[in-house]
Amino acid sequence: MQIINFKIMLNEINILNEEIKNKISNVKDLNSLEEIRLEYFVKKGKIQSLVDKLKDVPKDQKPVIGKELNIFKSNAERIFNELREKLQNQAEENTDLDLTLPGRRNFRGSSHPVMQTMNEMIDIFGSMGFAVAEGPDIEDGWHNFDALNFPPDHPARDMQDTFFVKSDKEYVLRTHTSPVQIRVMQSSELPIRAIMPGRVYRNEAISARSLAEFYQIEGLYIDKNVSLAELKSTLMTFAKRMYGENSKFRFRPSFFPFTEPSAELDISCYICGGKGCRICKNTGWLEIAGCGMVHPNVLKSGGIDPEIYSGYAFGFGIERVTMLRTGISDIRYLYENDLRVLNQL
Ligand code: PHE
Repeated sequence: MQIINFKIMLNEINILNEEIKNKISNVKDLNSLEEIRLEYFVKKGKIQSLVDKLKDVPKDQKPVIGKELNIFKSNAERIFNELREKLQNQAEENTDLDLTLPGRRNFRGSSHPVMQTMNEMIDIFGSMGFAVAEGPDIEDGWHNFDALNFPPDHPARDMQDTFFVKSDKEYVLRTHTSPVQIRVMQSSELPIRAIMPGRVYRNEAISARSLAEFYQIEGLYIDKNVSLAELKSTLMTFAKRMYGENSKFRFRPSFFPFTEPSAELDISCYICGGKGCRICKNTGWLEIAGCGMVHPNVLKSGGIDPEIYSGYAFGFGIERVTMLRTGISDIRYLYENDLRVLNQL
């Protein structure tokens, strides 16, 4: 075994001490400090290999040398740590932090334009005495078709037009909000004055004018002696509040199995101002609602006696109403989630 004597060991401690102090005093950044850590302060570094030599020191000298080694080691570690802390603080101060910059604005979410329209419609009809009712999106064929006086061979019952949930045609994704009329008739006291907003589904090609999923708002009023004139005045009152006093409207005869007589409400085209364009198919008018007097068969389905009661019903497409208010010419823009579009609405 190699014996290392006292003097040699003290000398080596001094040399290493000077070496470390020297190097540390020249360090300018954390990278070069890291190099020093790897050379001296790790397990296989120069400090530990000097400490390892203690085992070769004669026994009686070990306490003294051991003490010297400890002092040297903790001293070196202290200088190292102090410098590291200083450099780290400097690095943090030197980031490109500019406290004079204006704060970042948080993105605020807001309700979707279609929901805004829906809520506004609910408000307007609400102020006219209509309560809100809802029904299921998955509807049975009876509520969606039969109860609404659809003949058995009506094309809407075809797979081409309607999404069937079961292949036996028992359940469908409702094709309109009109089945909620039946549910409201079955569950409410008379008279009934309700609007029924909700999502509807049609097996349709998606285009600038139509989607396969969209929103409708249904209206229903049932009482004794309800007249077509009341239907007209209700819809006109709504339309003027929604679109302003100056917008022009017309009622046009139409057909629905569940209303008789039936009509459609048109508004003059917002794109061309009534002159005729691509959007209004050159008619100068855009349809915004279907409506009519509730068919006696529908009242019967809802358990109401058509000899005593009569009523009117209407249905708006909420996307269409939104397009008219916002001037959007393609219905798909509403659902592409393009912030450049949404931020304008
Ligand atoms: N349900 C009809 C549709 O989806 C709209 C409508 C509702 C028409 C109520 C008349 C009465 O087109």
